[in-house]
Order: sequence, then C-alpha cells, then structure tokens
Amino acid sequence: MGRKFVVGGNWKMNGTKSQINEILAFLKQGPLNESTEIIVGVPAIYLDHVKSNAPANVEVAAQNCYKVDKGAFTGEISPVMLKDIGVNWVILGHSERRQIFQESDELVAEKVSFALSNGLRVIACIGETLQEREAGKTEEVVFRQTQAIANKIKDWYDVVIAYEPVWAIGTGKTATPQQAQEVHQALRQWISQNISPDVANSIRIQYGGSVTGANAQELASQPDIDGFLVGGASLKPEFVNIVNARQ
Ligand code: G3H
Repeated sequence: MGRKFVVGGNWKMNGTKSQINEILAFLKQGPLNESTEIIVGVPAIYLDHVKSNAPANVEVAAQNCYKVDKGAFTGEISPVMLKDIGVNWVILGHSERRQIFQESDELVAEKVSFALSNGLRVIACIGETLQEREAGKTEEVVFRQTQAIANKIKDWYDVVIAYEPVWAIGTGKTATPQQAQEVHQALRQWISQNISPDVANSIRIQYGGSVTGANAQELASQPDIDGFLVGGASLKPEFVNIVNARQ
C-alpha cells in the first residue's frame, strides 16, 4: 500500500516561547524516524518562530484558518497569510473547533476546500462524541463529516484525515487498537465506495485521542492506522517515541 506514516503534534493553545523552545530542542535531539512525516500544529502567534527554528524534517501547521483570502474578519488568519510565511499545512475541523467554536460540517468543508485551493495541505479532523458512539452512530457521524468535505473538493491528494473520537481526546481513554482499526477500515471502505478506490488506497488516516509513547506502537501496528494526531503528549519528549512507533 505504501502510505507514508504521518504523525502530527497538535499543541493546541499551549506553550510560551521558552516552552516551545524546549519542544524544539527535544525534536532536534530526536532521533526522529526518517520514514515518518512529522507535522507540528502551532498556535498562530508562534508559527513564524517555529517555522524558523524547527528541524528540517518537521513541518509546521496552523491549527485553523478562514475560508477567504483577506478582509474584515477580525481575529482570523487566511491560507494566503500562512503560505506567505512558508507554512504548508493546516489542521481543520478539530472537534474543539466544531464544539467550542460551533463550526459546522459545511464551514469545515468550505475551509478545507479554500485551504487546498491556496496550496495548503490539510489535516481534516472527524470523530464522534461519546453520546453518538453509545447511540451506535459512530459510522454515520464520520461518514457524514467526510461526505461534507467530499461535496466541496475533488482532489484528496493533499488531505490527511484524522479520526479522533471526541471521548478519547484529553481523557486518557484511548480507543483500543481494535476500536480504532474498525472505524478506520469502515471509513476507508466508505471512501472506496463513495469517493474512489484510488483515494481509499492512498489517503492517510491518522488516529487521535490520548495517544502516548506507551500505546502508540500497538495502535501503529493496525493496517488502516497511518499515523497519529497527538495532543497532550506532543508537548513532551515522549512525542519522539510516538513518531518512531511504526516499526
Ligand atoms: O488533536 C489532537 C487530539 O485532540 C488528541 O488530543 O492526545 O491530548 O487526547 P490528546
């Protein structure tokens, strides 16, 4: 299949400049597996700093951007601005954006489409809440969220999907490797039937939700898990072990 393992560290709204320099120091020290693609999701205000100081094999992502190039949108940043400072990636549709900031499937899809059309690569996040999982709606939710994006884009080459069950985020309750694999496999099958077999074979699907240095290896051994999107543990030196989890 040959999908390159891809690990993102989503720092969320964490870090001072000196704390970020500590993260950069352990990333520089590594060693980081050369066959893993590594992307760190940085608070907007530090993007330029991290871009200038990260090791060459660590890409930098914004954690959000808006769906137009410029204008009267106080507090927002645009894909054009990201490209202007050399940032090539953006995380979109994170469940915190969807839940706390009320981003709809439609808005997330518009943002994904606009980011791609401006040459950004996108980590598009999807995932069900605990209530939805308990109601047996996991697949319905992740298929709906993916369909919304599919309605707006044609080329998936620059998209990585992050499957992040909301109940596993920041809770210490990781999905078991079997639970994660089950959703990843079902999603890949859905993509094959509803987008194309080629996209299904090539698209990388990350798992996110309480990934740690201790559980990453077993999760990484699942055939449809192509990497991770890591929150809390990406702020700590154990992130290096997560990057190196694929044997
Ligand atoms: O984007 C990352 C996810 O929200 C996972 O966060 O690893 O702290 O559970 P977490």
